[in-house]
Amino acid sequence: MASLGVNIDHIATVRQARRTVEPNPASFALLAELGGADGITVHLREDRRHIQDRDVELLKATVRSRLNLEMAATTEMIGIAQMLKPAMVTLVPERREEVTTEGGLDVVSMGTLLKQQVQSLQGAGIPVSLFVDANSEQLRACRDSGALWVELHTGSYADAPWGAKQAQELAKLIEATQHCREMGLRVNAGHGLTYQNVEAIAAIPGIEELNIGHTIIARALAVGLEQAVRDMKALVVNPRPLEQNPGIGKEFI
Ligand code: PXP
Repeated sequence: MASLGVNIDHIATVRQARRTVEPNPASFALLAELGGADGITVHLREDRRHIQDRDVELLKATVRSRLNLEMAATTEMIGIAQMLKPAMVTLVPERREEVTTEGGLDVVSMGTLLKQQVQSLQGAGIPVSLFVDANSEQLRACRDSGALWVELHTGSYADAPWGAKQAQELAKLIEATQHCREMGLRVNAGHGLTYQNVEAIAAIPGIEELNIGHTIIARALAVGLEQAVRDMKALVVNPRPLEQNPGIGKEFI
């Protein structure tokens, strides 16, 4: 059964729209935990467009589940993580002009520098996860980097039209998960998951945690964060089998 990491970046997005003090991500992390979040994820971006340094410090002090710090593989961020000591660091690619993280890391090209960064974080007792596409060459490079975890990018699955194309993307994620497990890598997944498409991913054997943000925060506007997390958690821990999941994977099974 997969666990649920809730990404609360967009609580900070609302605050930063007015550059004021509310809403406070740390307070909403508590509500997410009350709703059943197994972990809290935030992305401290180089441009600080949503989460701020003070947020991660407050969250480190108040999160009772696990704090997963998403960040770019830069010297500045590695330094912050080493001081903060979150439960996990997820390294992601970052481009200033992007709306959200686009595509996985190119671990193959990152070579020795990435290996050193992974070593310095894991040497400080912080497990590292690499956010990558379901591509076997990239996954082998993840293993070679020494990172203990990968987070499989589910964006292509989430963006695919329902039916055959989505089933194909699902099959790639299933195969990638198996490949990782055979190489000894632990597997998380996320990006673009919604209440409509999450169940097929939650049902993949070997995926340990799903990181989900935007759809939960969007639903929270209507029902409150605690309830929105509770609704998502119910789908993640008890996904319907593919054949009962309308529209997904019909051609696949
Ligand atoms: N995982 C990673 C590595 C991400 O960068 C993001 C977006 O910040 C997510 C998961 C969550 O994606 P979404 O907001 O689409 O659920």
